[in-house]
Amino acid sequence: MTDRAVPLRGQRAIATAGILQAVRGMNDVLPDEAPLWQRFEDTTRAVFAQYGYRNIRVPVVEPTALFARGIGEFTDVVEKEMYTFEDKLNGESLTLRPEATAGIVRATIQHNLTYDRPQRVWTAGPMFRHERPQKGRYRQFHQFDVEALGFPGPDVDAEQIVMLARLWRALGLTDIVLQINSIGDRDHRVAHRNALVAHFERNAAVLDDDARRRLHANPLRILDSKNPAMQEMIEAAPKLVDFLDGEALAHFEGMQAQLTDAGLAFEINPRLVRGLDYYNRTVFEWVATGGGLGAQGTVAGGGRYDDLFETLGGKRNFACGFAIGVERMILLLQAAGVAVDPAPLAYVVHAGEAAAPLARRVGEALRDRGHAVVVHAGGGSFKSQMKRADASGARFALIIGDDEAATNTVAVKPLRTAGDQVAVPAADVPARLAALAQ
Ligand code: HAM
Repeated sequence: MTDRAVPLRGQRAIATAGILQAVRGMNDVLPDEAPLWQRFEDTTRAVFAQYGYRNIRVPVVEPTALFARGIGEFTDVVEKEMYTFEDKLNGESLTLRPEATAGIVRATIQHNLTYDRPQRVWTAGPMFRHERPQKGRYRQFHQFDVEALGFPGPDVDAEQIVMLARLWRALGLTDIVLQINSIGDRDHRVAHRNALVAHFERNAAVLDDDARRRLHANPLRILDSKNPAMQEMIEAAPKLVDFLDGEALAHFEGMQAQLTDAGLAFEINPRLVRGLDYYNRTVFEWVATGGGLGAQGTVAGGGRYDDLFETLGGKRNFACGFAIGVERMILLLQAAGVAVDPAPLAYVVHAGEAAAPLARRVGEALRDRGHAVVVHAGGGSFKSQMKRADASGARFALIIGDDEAATNTVAVKPLRTAGDQVAVPAADVPARLAALAQ
């Protein structure tokens, strides 16, 4: 950023700061893009409501300990990506939420939400992770997050996945594939972990620094590594799914049966462990195969996290959830050519003192009937106003000059179809537009 000296009427120079930019990795959503976001949001809210999910809203800032304990100290999110700062007054360590699940579980415990019945909830909003920005990966990004609290499953696990399949259909998206896995219960993970550590120790020569550091603290995370030099060794590592038995195995098989029953195709990916530590049993991801998202193709991910309540100081409970990455969905919708036309029905063009009140009345009368109408503001010639009318995408220009004001009429001009301008009594405009708009 450079400072520029701007001369002020030749008398003196004032220094103005360079133009301020948004923080790297944090994006503006401009008015031309917002309609697609709104289409996604409206559709998503409607589908969630169809399954009985209700909205919950939790703070964007939480105590750092919530995420450190909830997500896990040795995860990338907690180790490297959190926006953490000290409260200036009391020195408390606070963090901008990197995800919503920990906050929702905190709220569930704090307000005893599942005291007498389980709860299906969703939330939406910005999340913050200090990642290296690239297409589909940002430092402020948005999620639609769903949590089923107090359900032992596997019925809600399958239902959430089926709900997402319905959402993709409602959005007109086809190239999104489902991957599932089970990471079992604690006993399975302990047995698997021991086998895994032994495997990594046998292959110590290929471990990178991150892996060596995590070897005993959190060996499961080594499986997430993208380091090409370690891929072959990771591929040969023991698979957790082979350690499942008893209820955890029945849970996994029960969920698969329900997905099959719902007609959903899925792939079991034994390497799918997810990047957060709170999961047990079910984990799943929906991955877009198109849309140019490449490695950022995971558009939704989640799973079961029964142990998180106890980790955060609550009583034993059960839960399953997922989050959708909104920016990635918008990229997919754009790549699929989904366009949303938020144009108003009419743009009211007016000039002259007598015309302005009539223009406002006509606008309000149309809005009374639920239409979107833009009444020109800011003056200007008819010609320049007509240009604005055209640029607004409106179907009709409603033109009011001195003559129209004197006779209480409006000249209706179709902008998107052939047709002559016709003079219509002001009171008849709503009915006439409704007829013409058929
Ligand atoms: P997650 O896998 O960390 O899970 O994130 C879910 C989704 O958020 C990802 O699949 C991706 O679409 C999007 N996402 C994550 N990071 C970024 C980023 N830096 N830029 C753009 N999009 C991103 C969770 O957050 C869990 N809380 C999900 C969950 C809910 N599990 C149980 N309940």
